Amino acid sequence: MVKLSEDMVKSLENEIVFLATSSKEGIPNVAPMKAVKVLDAEKGMVLIADNFMNKTLKNILENPNVALTTANCREMPYQYKGVAEYYKEGEYLKIAEELDKALRPDFKPKGAVVIKITEIYNLKSGPDAGKLIAKDE
Ligand SMILES: Cc1cc2nc3c(=O)[nH]c(=O)nc-3n(C[C@H](O)[C@H](O)[C@H](O)COP(=O)(O)O)c2cc1C
Repeated sequence: MVKLSEDMVKSLENEIVFLATSSKEGIPNVAPMKAVKVLDAEKGMVLIADNFMNKTLKNILENPNVALTTANCREMPYQYKGVAEYYKEGEYLKIAEELDKALRPDFKPKGAVVIKITEIYNLKSGPDAGKLIAKDE
């Protein structure tokens, strides 16, 4: 299981997260996200509220493989890869609603993207750039 450190949790929850997706034909897309909550650091579970997702959602529904990095990648140089699932109701939608309420009460989520992080890579410039740090067994 890929475990997120305390600093990784802080970075994912407080910084802009860039969410990269890809269509089934392999056309890439990246979009910044702010309504992000780590559901379970030990299991590498991250939720993002779907407020305005367009190509991002279309891509996730046809290809669940995603990648993330954060705006503070100088201090937290990590590339997270994972598998996304989409929820339009239930506990995850409630969490997305709470997230929006705290950040932007004028927003209402259409759904919640839940990502299970399966790999973490180092992004720090230098000889270890791109190297694998952690992987789901
Ligand atoms: C700073 C910033 C934060 C954003 N946060 C979110 C977010 O938390 N959830 C969301 O659904 N869209 C968010 N958006 C909107 C998406 O980045 C993007 O506009 C939307 O997904 C449509 O683009 P797409 O077609 O690539 O999906 C945010 C945009 C900006 C500029």
